[in-house]
Amino acid sequence: MGLASRHSYTYAFDTSSREETVLLGKRLGVLLRSGDVVCLEGDLGTGKTVIAEGIGQALQVDDYMTSPTYTIVNEYWVRDGELYHFDLYRLSGEDEVYDMDFDSYFHRGAIILVEWPDRAGNLIPEDSIRVHLSKTSDNSEERHITISTNSPMEFAQ
Ligand SMILES: Nc1ncnc2c1ncn2[C@@H]1O[C@H](COP(=O)(O)OP(=O)(O)OP(=O)(O)O)[C@@H](O)[C@H]1O
Ligand SMILES: [Mg+2]
Repeated sequence: MGLASRHSYTYAFDTSSREETVLLGKRLGVLLRSGDVVCLEGDLGTGKTVIAEGIGQALQVDDYMTSPTYTIVNEYWVRDGELYHFDLYRLSGEDEVYDMDFDSYFHRGAIILVEWPDRAGNLIPEDSIRVHLSKTSDNSEERHITISTNSPMEFAQ
């Protein structure tokens, strides 16, 4: 069974600017709890890092957030703990992800954001929140964003 089929609740959004996607990230961020894992899926340039910034803002991140493209993981202090923001794009697959002690981050009560989670295969917890971003056409700022979870979420307006 694929990851998607395990998720019972899907919420769909459309944004038409970077700022609107940051705002959606904030609406998601306020609902997150210690230990939550958020997978950020979608092609290059769809806005995974942008929505991560919004999540970070909601969590009162202690620093300016940058893309972890080259660092693989960026670490921040947030409201009540730590935030780890991964970008696994440059890793070849599950073996390399395992070798960087990826799973050691999951028992610290931190909030974890993962861009390119497909690289981590089965190392991604089954109950992670799954965010998927896509462009609606090549030359537009419109993004279609779905958030899938195992339990219902109450997004504020
Ligand atoms: N509606 C939108 N939502 C988010 N970003 C948008 C939107 N419209 C335009 N953009 C632009 O799209 C780009 C998204 O870049 P971002 O770095 O977030 O992509 P990414 O999905 O993290 O890519 P990568 O896989 O390379 O890490 C930014 O330049 C942003 O300004
Ligand atoms: Mg990115």
